[in-house]
Amino acid sequence: MKKIAVLTSGGDAPGMNAAIRAVVRSGIYYGLDVYGIFRGYSGLIQGEMKKLTLGSVGDIIHRGGTILYTARCEEFRTEAGRLKAVEKLKQAGIEGLIVIGGDGSFRGAQKLTQLGIPTIGVPGTIDNDIPSTDFTIGFDTAVNTVIRCIDQIRDTASSHERTYVVEVMGRDAGDIALWSGLGDGAESILIPEAHYHIDEIIHRLRRGYERDKKHSIIVVAEGVGSGVKIGEQIKESTGWETRVTVLGHIQRGGSPTAFDRILASRMGAKAVDLLRSGQKDQMIAIRNQDVMGIDFDVALAQKHIPNMDLYELAKILSI
Ligand code: F6P
Repeated sequence: MKKIAVLTSGGDAPGMNAAIRAVVRSGIYYGLDVYGIFRGYSGLIQGEMKKLTLGSVGDIIHRGGTILYTARCEEFRTEAGRLKAVEKLKQAGIEGLIVIGGDGSFRGAQKLTQLGIPTIGVPGTIDNDIPSTDFTIGFDTAVNTVIRCIDQIRDTASSHERTYVVEVMGRDAGDIALWSGLGDGAESILIPEAHYHIDEIIHRLRRGYERDKKHSIIVVAEGVGSGVKIGEQIKESTGWETRVTVLGHIQRGGSPTAFDRILASRMGAKAVDLLRSGQKDQMIAIRNQDVMGIDFDVALAQKHIPNMDLYELAKILSI
């Protein structure tokens, strides 16, 4: 194998740049030409690619976002779109492709493998919702960002003796809410993977107020529903001053944490190793600190479940 390419796809995540850097630098170290494809599958269909050098990926390890840009591409969902993509790769002589993105991007990557382009996926999303890996690139940074924001909200919550509902991202997964809620001592954490009843949330709030607690934080994962609605329900039932903050895209940006930079460096380099050794149709995962390749079919057949021990612990600690 002489020529490989890398692209980022789906929502950006902090650490994607560190992963691109690892692919490019380790590829060049082993004597490969490494191409960057711009704007995900959409750019691939248009043939937007460029050979990357050691210098192309200098000064990016600490930057959020992705220097390759990213996109969600409808055309690539069609057979005709995918055939165009394969044509572009073949014209450029590219023999292997590394896709940094989420599970939707990996399903696209699998289709490319079936069409004759060996592909490896690197999990990059703040949601941590990819099955078979303990962590995805960007999750740790997003949790740290949310925790910083909630710390600040807590200052106002305590000064004004208010209840705050904070809605966080995560698509259908509760990981961001769970980890940031535990890390921030939230009174309640609402995640799609666990049933909740509004009466129970209110009971917990009242119990706190009875022991003279003056403010409360409730973290709601977007997959549960609208934080605004939950705030309204609490206000209606208790009559307490309640505010809602929807953190939104602030959670996707920012300089990656040390954890994400190191994870991205390990995963990017592992993806190159797998392609060099003739592997394909796999995604990179980290399990108990080990970075490994797992067949897409096996990895994606699993269902992602957050660490529910943390959920139970948060309940105990917020008594
Ligand atoms: O997958 C990352 C994510 O930020 C989710 O948490 C969120 O549901 C979604 O992307 C938002 O997508 P967009 O940026 O297209 O609005």
